[in-house]
Amino acid sequence: MIFDEFSIKTLVRPVPDFPKPGVVFRDITPLLQSPKALRMVADSLIQRYVESDFSHVGALDARGFIIGSIIAYELNRPLILFRKKGKLPADVLAASYSTEYGEAFLEVHADSLCEGDSVLLLDDLIATGGTLVAAAQLVRRMGAQIHEAAAIIDLPELGGSRKLQDMGIPTFTLTAFE
Ligand code: PRP
Ligand code: ADE
Repeated sequence: MIFDEFSIKTLVRPVPDFPKPGVVFRDITPLLQSPKALRMVADSLIQRYVESDFSHVGALDARGFIIGSIIAYELNRPLILFRKKGKLPADVLAASYSTEYGEAFLEVHADSLCEGDSVLLLDDLIATGGTLVAAAQLVRRMGAQIHEAAAIIDLPELGGSRKLQDMGIPTFTLTAFE
């Protein structure tokens, strides 16, 4: 299936002033409700990474879990969950971060990665990059490396993909809204 960026973009609904005044929320639920579009997104990422030698997929709470699970399943890699504070039951490492509309803590099980592991981080969207930067810090604290940080959507005006690249993290997104 050829990747049709236009049809993917039309299935991301802009919702003004959610969850705060001034934020244009990019809602992926219409995209998820289109089997064809979700398959196109998943297949594009599978095609990009099928020959890559990363050891783990890291998926970010909560929307990143959707695409992260599909890619981990298809590429037969262990799936690591980066969760919001208080959700993981065993010993965790934590990192604070802020996004376009809030501040939070991201956690990962402390025994989920080892030195020498290489992680493909997956989320639905990069805005300020706060969430993916926090995940990248946690990966590095466990002695592992980041293969790439990938998302369906980039919001380049918010500077997140630039910030990740400045940290030495290769970044890939399928589409962008200026
Ligand atoms: C959204 C989105 C990314 C993050 C991007 O998650 O799914 O994880 O914000 O923003 P950033 O680049 O500024 O960090 P959100 O915190 O809204 O949580 P959700 O996935 O549970 O809806
Ligand atoms: N996460 C951070 N900023 C966002 C936005 N504008 N739309 C959807 N998710 C987001």
